[in-house]
Amino acid sequence: MSVVELEKTFRKVFGNSGPLARFRSPGRVNLIGEHTDYNAGFVFPCAVEMEILAVASARSDSKVRMYSRDFDEMKEFDLNDRAKDEKSWVNYVKGVLVELGAMGGLVRGVDAVFESNLPVGSGLSSSAAFELVNCLIFSSINDIILDRPEMALLCQRAENRFVGVNCGIMDQFAISLGKKDSALFLDTRDLSYEAVPLNLGQYRIVIANTNKPRTLAGSAYNTRRSECETAVSILKKTAGNITALRDVKMEELEAGKSGMEDRVYRRAKHVVGENARVVESVKALKAGDLGKFGKLMAASHESLRDLYQVSCKELDVMVEEAMKIRGVLGSRMTGAGFGGCTVSLVESSSVEEFKVSVGSQYAAKTGSKADFYITTAVDGVSQIT
Ligand code: GLA
Repeated sequence: MSVVELEKTFRKVFGNSGPLARFRSPGRVNLIGEHTDYNAGFVFPCAVEMEILAVASARSDSKVRMYSRDFDEMKEFDLNDRAKDEKSWVNYVKGVLVELGAMGGLVRGVDAVFESNLPVGSGLSSSAAFELVNCLIFSSINDIILDRPEMALLCQRAENRFVGVNCGIMDQFAISLGKKDSALFLDTRDLSYEAVPLNLGQYRIVIANTNKPRTLAGSAYNTRRSECETAVSILKKTAGNITALRDVKMEELEAGKSGMEDRVYRRAKHVVGENARVVESVKALKAGDLGKFGKLMAASHESLRDLYQVSCKELDVMVEEAMKIRGVLGSRMTGAGFGGCTVSLVESSSVEEFKVSVGSQYAAKTGSKADFYITTAVDGVSQIT
């Protein structure tokens, strides 16, 4: 995959020899802070090296023509076409166009080609990456001025309203504001954030893909959201001035426990604990205590598995096998759950052993093949100059 190759594809597909603009948009991995973003809490993601590449050229009319090299599919529609498409990738573009259209000034369409090495449906936010790259292409071509947090919020609205997934802000924010060699400590309540340098020394971030499609993710995600809302409405009676689980202390949750179903209590306990773990992780990382950071990752996985119940056999096997390898400080599921990827902190000299051993044990125990990606943190979506 290279942008030069993609330009050739563009010329071939559109027979256009005019000037081209080139873009890249990375995926993201969340290091810790899962299912906290729609509870006004903390997250700690970074943008990753796997990315979507795009080559685009402005049109003078309102037509949009897009070719996906990965799906070998061509789509053509008008900027103002609001009809849902049977191909999901087109709906991410249309969702962004609806939101950009609402700002005014969206008049010029584009011809564009895309290619990606970011696995689709694996919990590394290929959909958010695709929304963001389209937001950047269409806003720059139409001179619509948006700052980075606005871009993230616009793409989240596209996903919530047009695509119909009730996600939080984490994915779009990480892809919009990602910073090389740093992870973003984001307060999702007011979007204040700090880029914390990932001083990992001889350790590496290893992502392991279960290759299990996240089929349950949509419905279970919405159920978890409403269980969190139920917890808040119950705790309001005893804990006073709270609007989200972010405001709840563990003692307050324990005091209100008898008023709620066990399932709701467990969901809330995960969120309250996870928020505290993010704050602790950032402190540990700043202090150079990677061992502590790793332990917090492991505790996060246990909580997601036992209290929030969004893990699955494949994710649990991957984490268990990872934790058996010497030189692994921590390992956890990342993203919404029910499949997708794990993230682990692995000593560089153990990475090969990790891939071989976790890969073979995973295959033996699940009958599926795992994929591994070693990544550093990279900058967010950008035009390639
Ligand atoms: C998905 C959502 C995010 C976040 C995570 C869970 O990735 O898109 O907003 O809620 O799940 O942490």
